[in-house]
Amino acid sequence: MRKTLFSFSILVMTGIIFFSCSSSTEPKKEVKEVIAKLDDFKGYTSWTKVDTRFGPDPLLQTAHGVTDSLFRVVYVKDNVKPSSGKYPVGTMILKELRDANNKLQGAITVMVKRGGSFNPDGNGWEWFMTDTGLTTILSQGDNATAGGGMCASCHAGANTNNNGTDWVFNHP
Ligand code: HEC
Repeated sequence: MRKTLFSFSILVMTGIIFFSCSSSTEPKKEVKEVIAKLDDFKGYTSWTKVDTRFGPDPLLQTAHGVTDSLFRVVYVKDNVKPSSGKYPVGTMILKELRDANNKLQGAITVMVKRGGSFNPDGNGWEWFMTDTGLTTILSQGDNATAGGGMCASCHAGANTNNNGTDWVFNHP
């Protein structure tokens, strides 16, 4: 009797596991993974301009080529906004630096919500640094690799400071 009960519970458990697995594999509309290329960043000046900042910021320390004479502009592709504090897979946020003559300086930095199994420690973000002409990727990777780990170690502060969310400081 005990054996039958045991087998029965195993059967029920298997049923539950199978059911939950099968329901989670149902086709969903959302994108699973977005692997960005340089071309995806071209034309970013027509994305939504969400922020312009000028001058030093204590959170920046010496990153992003910040000096008194440069201003930083942040763009978001398709004006994507976070939902419950998280950006959807496919989100692209780009930041450039310009001087007083509106000339691009330094590097362009981009965050792409790549998703899938990428960078689970960093909510799936992929970090990029390119030249201002978007011809070369200077650095690319996950929390550990991009910018020698600097991008993520500093942006970790965005989860708690400056009204940041999901590794993003200036969230729209
Ligand atoms: C020492 C800190 C620090 C490091 C290192 C750093 N960032 Fe940032 N980053 C910031 C801060 C602070 C902001 C927002 C404030 C500002 O722009 O003035 C920001 C803004 C951004 C933005 C605009 C979205 C947002 O979070 O506001 C992007 C994109 C970005 N950084 C990408 C990168 C990438 C890619 C790297 C590495 C190559 C990097 N950052 C390295 C501090 C840092």
